[in-house]
Formats: sequence, C-alpha cells, structure tokens
Amino acid sequence: MCGITAYRGPAAAASRARSALERLEYRGYDSAGIAARRPDGTTLHARTLSGVAALAVVTGEQSTDATTAAIGHTRWATHGEVSEANAHPLEDCSGRLYVVHNGIIDNAEVLRAQLVAAGHRFATGVDSEVIVHLIEQAQRPGVGLGDALADAAGHLSGSWAVVALDARTGTLAATAHGSPLISAQDGTGTYLASDVGAVAPEVTEFRVLEDDDVVEIDAAGIRWHRAGGSCRPRGLWPVPRTALLASTGRHRDHMGNEIDEQPVVARRVLEALGPGIVDGSLWRGLGLPSLDDIDRVTVIGCGTSLHAGRAVAGVFGRLGGLPTRTLVASEAAHEVWEPRTLVIAMSQSGETADVLRALDALPPRHGTLLALTNSSSSTLARRSDAVIDCLAGPEVGVAATKTFVAQVLTGVCVALSGLSAFDRADSACLGADLRALAATPDALAAALDAWRGPSAQLAAEYARASGFLFLGRGAGLIYAAEGALKLKELSYRWAESHPAGELKHGPLALVDAGTPVFVVDNGDPRLDVDIAEVAARGGRVIRIGERVLTVGGVPLHLPRTGPSWGPLETVVPLQMFARELAVRLHRDVDKPRNLAKSVTVS
Ligand code: F6R
Repeated sequence: MCGITAYRGPAAAASRARSALERLEYRGYDSAGIAARRPDGTTLHARTLSGVAALAVVTGEQSTDATTAAIGHTRWATHGEVSEANAHPLEDCSGRLYVVHNGIIDNAEVLRAQLVAAGHRFATGVDSEVIVHLIEQAQRPGVGLGDALADAAGHLSGSWAVVALDARTGTLAATAHGSPLISAQDGTGTYLASDVGAVAPEVTEFRVLEDDDVVEIDAAGIRWHRAGGSCRPRGLWPVPRTALLASTGRHRDHMGNEIDEQPVVARRVLEALGPGIVDGSLWRGLGLPSLDDIDRVTVIGCGTSLHAGRAVAGVFGRLGGLPTRTLVASEAAHEVWEPRTLVIAMSQSGETADVLRALDALPPRHGTLLALTNSSSSTLARRSDAVIDCLAGPEVGVAATKTFVAQVLTGVCVALSGLSAFDRADSACLGADLRALAATPDALAAALDAWRGPSAQLAAEYARASGFLFLGRGAGLIYAAEGALKLKELSYRWAESHPAGELKHGPLALVDAGTPVFVVDNGDPRLDVDIAEVAARGGRVIRIGERVLTVGGVPLHLPRTGPSWGPLETVVPLQMFARELAVRLHRDVDKPRNLAKSVTVS
C-alpha cells in the first residue's frame, strides 16, 4: 500500500521520480504527490487526487526539468480521509523538510500529542505526519539528515518505509522497517523506490534496504548507516527482466490482457518446471527436505493467493495423503504450530504484511519455509528457506488473474515433484495428474475461446443483479471462491461462495426467481442434486466446467473429480465474467476502488 519513489541526480529529478511513480500506481491511487528541489533553492510541491498522470500537469512539468532531488508518493489511505491535504509528501513547520511514508505508525497519537506539546503544528490527519516533525526535532547543527531520520525512527512503532528530502540542500535520506524499499543507480543519479518495477526500465541492478538500514544521498553519493555507524551497502540484485511493464494488448485494460496471457504463462511454468517433476529434481533442487522428515503441510496466504494455496495443498493431501491445512495469514497468530511442518507462504508480491507477520508467529523449529512468489527479491523470498518464482511476469491489474494460475501451477509442479521423489503417490493417480497438468495450457486456451462471447452476454443479462452465489464441491470450491472474490472486487456487487452441500443449510434462502448461481463443476455427481434444488426455486444456474474436456478436438477424459488441484480452467470464465460485468458497470477494471495490489499494511 502506498508507493514511494525518489531520485537525486544532476537534472530531471521530478520527472524521473514521477515516471517511476506511474509504475507504482497499482500500490494505491487515493492521491499522488511530489516534492522536488529546484537549483535556485525553491521547492516544487504538488499533490492531486487525480492520479499520477495529473501530477505532470499540476507541476507544469517541462522537458527541461531542472530539479535535482525529488520524492514522490502514491497513497492508499489508512489513517485520515482521502484529501489533498492528507496527500504526501508531508512538510514540516518550516517548509524545508518533506517526507513520504508507506506503512502504519502505531504510536502516532502519543507522538502527535508530545510533538504538539513541544510546539509543532500539524497540518493533516495522517499518522505519517509525526515522522516529519520528529526529523525536524532531531535536526541540529552537525546532525545530518540520515542521523536525524534514524533518531526519528527510534521513536516509532509500527511499519515504515520513509524517504525525507531536505529541500534546502537537496539531500535525501531513507529508512525502512517492515515495509519494502530499494535503492538503485543509473549512469548519473540514485533512485529509491518501494518496488524494483518502478525503476526497472532505468537500471540493471538494485539493493534492498534491510530493516533499520539508513541511506543518505547527497552530492558526495550514497552512504549506508546502521545503528549510528556506517555500514557496507547491501548486496546487488539483478533487475528481473519480467519487471518491465506489460502492455494492455488488444484490450482496454491490463486485466483483459492478463486473462488472455494465462495459457502462455501456464506453458512457461510447465516448460521451466515440468522436466523436474518425475525425477524429483525440482524438489531437491529447491533444497527441500525429504518428505520422510515432513509430517504435514501448512499453506498461508491472503485472498487470491490463499485460494491458489488451497489448490496446491490439495496435491499434497488428495494425492499424497499428507495432512494439510490452509491458513488465512492474518489469523495465523492464533494457530498452534507443530514441528516437521512444511510451511508454504504464497504471495505474488512477496510483500503482503499479513503474510510476513504470520511468519513472525512461526516457532523457530517449525520445519521448512518455502516461499512461492512472483518476486524473488521480495521480503518474503529473503526470509524463506527456499524460494520458487511463479514466473507470471508483471501483473498490473490489481485483481490477480495470471499470477493465480501461475501460483497454482508452480505449486502443483513442486508438490508433484516431491511426491514423485519420495514415491508418495499412487502411480495411476500420479499419471492422471501429470496428463492433466500437461493439458492445462490447452484447457485454459479452450476456456478463453469458449467463453469470450458468453461471458459478455451473461454480463449484459446480469448487469442489474444485486447478488451472486458461487457453488462447488471438493476442489471445485476453490475456483468458486476465486470467482466470487473476482466478482466482488471488480463489480462491487455481493457475491458469496459456498460448498454446494451447505446450500440447504442456509444460503438457499437467498435464491429467488432469476438469482444467478454459478456452479463450478468438477465432476462430482452430487452437483446435479444441488443444481436441481436451485432450479426448483427459480434460480438461474450457470454451470462452469465439463466432465470431459475437448482439447484441440481430442476428448480428454479427466478422472471423475478432476486432478488433485481441481478444475483450474474453470477460473477463466469466472474471471472473464467479473471483468465483463465491471466494464459494463463502468468500473475501473485495473484499479478497483479501495484496493491496492501490494498490501504492505496489516
Ligand atoms: C485479489 C487479490 C488479492 C491478493 C492478496 C494477496 O484479486 O489480488 O486478494 O491475492 O492481497 O496478495 P499477495 O499475493 O501479493 O500476497
């Protein structure tokens, strides 16, 4: 949540910080702002509720941008209403210091009271404002901006990535604690950003600030500090090729393109990981322990990633007979942990605060932690024993689509590899799963082709429906839940998912004449009865999935209830329907209201 950028260099600092900010807008779009130092010592300070693109207009940005140091911010509001006054960069009483912050300051109220008592005047209702006043308070002759920021951070509790600009000197200082921040250098200047994607077109390598590192950037270059003393810069990471932004293709929005890309992504994952399944080399290559040393698998994640985790857990459980559980990351602190557990943390961003906090709840000797992420330099990846990249490439739409498919397939490959390596699956069932896995790219492509027209027609038919039900059984329930989540976040309509067997225990009361009820068909024959119950009350059943898939004209006979991760291709029509409905309702498909792609607050 919230995106931060900064640049210090000989010229064009404001334009560079703003361009980088454009690539971070998925992290929050409640407001955007920039502060920059002009060579004559004056400050450019602009904020808007109209998005990052509008900043160029507000600042009157010219091709001859002469600013030399700039900080930028795109906001996802936590404390304080969405208003221009609450937009970052925030300034101190003297108009000399500017600060951008991502995170939540838990003790902001206490600090605010102390600072007000000491004579500081607050201009906003946001928790972040205490930081700029704390820095102002810490600045004395002989105390550099980096030291003042470190002093300020010492008073904070919560999470933060902060960049401060001294507009008089053009010095930048930054620190992080529980929120991501990277630094990178192009030929002439230095960038700071919440995510490498912000600067990917400009640099080839980057460094990640660890908790409580402080960097100070001035005319002499960049200096790293830690606990009051200087320290060596952190190691360099190569910028992933995939961090470069994707286009919208033939669609009006990124999500449409990302849905279309799913067969390609599936092929990429299977080409990369498929060869390591049968001989177990994928599992061993990740350094994962013998399955003889693992008693259970626990998957943690949030939202769509949690749904993907349920599919992966299904392989260990249904096929491998291992006890599994899936945990909502924000609830993990209440769980009892046992040793010899393989924990799989699923997070496309690798920065989701709820997931990272869940890791804090793990006892030291719980077992092994595997990160499954779309960002192998993320905080999650750096904290895990083993990391697997889900190879989805950049996903711009806030609603996850291709990362979901990539997470499921990556996790399935790893699980099948482990079960093969340690001979833990019935060979006939394993063979059936391997055949279904190989057919997945075609199945996804067939679903795209089959539903392009019908999904638009259904959206037209149900544009006025106020609520939707999504039903499934077994692993089909995973995709019903994902369909309901996509519909909610994109259309802002109510959508509930339920195990179909639970219908008669309550949710059936919601079904009325014409109520749209999506049923994800994984081949469970009991669904026929569930469907009959809905139809008898006048509900309109939309059945997704077939027991025999025809792929490239060849019938593919799935096992009766599909592969152990369920009918993955059924998610495609559900994504398409949610998007079509959102388009019809004039929603912002790529930026659903109140949401952000990387949820770095818990
Ligand atoms: C929904 C969606 C979210 C994310 C969730 C976790 O479309 O994208 O539910 O899945 O916020 O995010 P990551 O995967 O980054 O941990």
